[in-house]
Amino acid sequence: MTRRLAILGATGSIGQSALSLLGESALDLEVVCLSAHRNLEALVNASAPWPEARRVLTGRRPGDPSVPAEAGYGFGPEGLLESLEAADPDLVLNGITGAAGIEASAWTLAHGKTLCLANKESLVLGGPWLLSLAAETGARILPVDSEHAAIHQCLRGERRTDIRCIYLTASGGALRDVPLEDLDAIEPTVALRHPNWSMGARITIGSATMMNKAFEVLEAHHLFDLPGDRIRVLLHRQSIVHGMVSFRDGSIVAQLGKPDMRVPIHYCLAWPDRGEFAFDGFDPEEFASLTFETVDPRRFPALALGYECLERGGDAGSVLNAADEIATEAFLKGRISFRKIAEIVEKVLERHVPRPISSIEEILAADEWAREEARRCLDSV
Ligand SMILES: NC(=O)c1ccc[n+]([C@@H]2O[C@H](COP(=O)([O-])OP(=O)(O)OC[C@H]3O[C@@H](n4cnc5c(N)ncnc54)[C@H](OP(=O)(O)O)[C@@H]3O)[C@@H](O)[C@H]2O)c1
Repeated sequence: MTRRLAILGATGSIGQSALSLLGESALDLEVVCLSAHRNLEALVNASAPWPEARRVLTGRRPGDPSVPAEAGYGFGPEGLLESLEAADPDLVLNGITGAAGIEASAWTLAHGKTLCLANKESLVLGGPWLLSLAAETGARILPVDSEHAAIHQCLRGERRTDIRCIYLTASGGALRDVPLEDLDAIEPTVALRHPNWSMGARITIGSATMMNKAFEVLEAHHLFDLPGDRIRVLLHRQSIVHGMVSFRDGSIVAQLGKPDMRVPIHYCLAWPDRGEFAFDGFDPEEFASLTFETVDPRRFPALALGYECLERGGDAGSVLNAADEIATEAFLKGRISFRKIAEIVEKVLERHVPRPISSIEEILAADEWAREEARRCLDSV
């Protein structure tokens, strides 16, 4: 039976990968809703093969002169939820970037739909709250993030009680070999040159700082119900092994593949089937060596902040994400140096007293507080 799919963030890196996949795969899916923030032209192109799909511009308002009124777009964050309600998808692929993705994730889980989750910020901000929504409705979360999709695959058919620990791999990003003393002089364009993956700007900078991996530690904690001391991060330059699980009998199971986000997206969209797709497959003979290194905390201080937030719990993840969003934007605009990103986030976390969360309002209040604090830190840099 054809399943109904909503693609949120359709104009971004994840959204575009998903759309290209649909054009070439045998997946039996009908796209019923697509969203972008402001990029009308890209949304028009993305939705061309799906003329019946609802289209939403979350960053524009009704009456926007550049959007033809007769085209029937939804507008603003509320327009996205209304369009989801009307489109009634079975699956929602959430490829929105940043904290803005959480409301669509909440809608999906509260309505008992399957959430194919690229927007890791949803779990960073509101992990326990979203999991409780999913538990109430029986909704499922399938992780699109390549490391978590890898762990999900390694755990198929396994008992949770048999897990010793999991390993998330990290490429180290664009600056992994730049001498520490040169990091302060790095231009944003250099930090955006990821060696293995082609992704949106925020996550690419998050790879270079490893804030992205800090988020993934929190994401893994919520998805796989593991404490921080059983979630390990390894620097793996080749980005071929995406995740590994160590079991109590001494076996380690890993998932391997080329760095191509279409693979984990396809995994989630086809689940529980494997589906078939002609990926340019991974040839083990091409890789004479796969290397794993411990992460240097002097180079990647942001990683420890993820573990710290996991310990603090409550709204600490919201603060981590919001402060990083502001600091990363300031770096991209040339306002602060690269190493100040983690410093500012750490300062904001130091000033924060974690509180438990039970609603979206509490999550957004922490987000708002952290943005203000981060801006204050920027003013004093
Ligand atoms: N890219 C990857 O390979 C990758 C891998 C793993 C996980 N992820 C995660 O997937 C998510 C998307 O990443 P990406 O790299 O695809 O980002 P991206 O290329 O920057 O695309 C972001 C998408 O979200 C939309 N958007 C931006 N701001 C928004 C807002 N305030 N409200 C609603 N929509 C908004 C954008 O619309 P406009 O085009 O109109 O601005 C665009 O469609 C992130 O959470 C990221 O961490 C990405």
